[in-house]
Amino acid sequence: MSLKRSQVSKQDQLKQAAAQAAIDYVLKNLEDDSYLGIGTGSTANCFIDLLAQHKGRLKGTVASSEASAQRLRDHGISVFELNNTGGVQIYVDGADEANPALELIKGGGGALTREKIIAAAAEEFVCIADQSKLVDHLGDFAVPVEVIPMARSYVAREIFKLGGEAVYRQGVVTDNGNVILDIQRLHPIATPKALEEKLNNITGVVTNGLFALRPADLLFLSTIDGVQTLKPSH
Ligand code: A5P
Repeated sequence: MSLKRSQVSKQDQLKQAAAQAAIDYVLKNLEDDSYLGIGTGSTANCFIDLLAQHKGRLKGTVASSEASAQRLRDHGISVFELNNTGGVQIYVDGADEANPALELIKGGGGALTREKIIAAAAEEFVCIADQSKLVDHLGDFAVPVEVIPMARSYVAREIFKLGGEAVYRQGVVTDNGNVILDIQRLHPIATPKALEEKLNNITGVVTNGLFALRPADLLFLSTIDGVQTLKPSH
């Protein structure tokens, strides 16, 4: 039991270190009149908590989920609608998997659609993760797909034709009022961009958790030997 506890706290320390690296990066690079995009999940939460000490430096933030927006407000950090900002300069978020091209799987927390919108609207996407998230090939983690509720069964059948198995995430309703299917049995995903497009082309799909067409620009990967700064390998 004590081993398990120390493993958990080690992973938390790695998340904190990745978040701190992103804080340093943001303080150095964020322009005074620009907005900061904020992701969702436990690593993004570390980032939000560290950001609170620097809130005077921020014009404002745009959040990828109601949960992150609430956490930001609890710290007294201003949150804006994306529509009212003209875009964000830097977007900081975690990932469920990242490959060396910095293509990602995201959406384990169900916030994939708003995450993808902010990533698309951002000049720069900075990913923060601990070393367990770096993989050679994506797909061991199930790819989440946000689906309009009435299309759930149809989309699951179409996913089956692509070789995947769609599992309904029971009891989860997204911030946009939709449902989530998690696609298993895709590993290894040979061409993430092509699969991202195919999944998005299924009628009823809002979007999917592959971030390959718009990958991260930078990854702060926290390891037991320190935080590495990775750029996409092409
Ligand atoms: C939320 O929907 C996700 O995309 C998260 O960014 C991702 O699941 C990583 O979360 P953790 O930082 O909690 O591992």
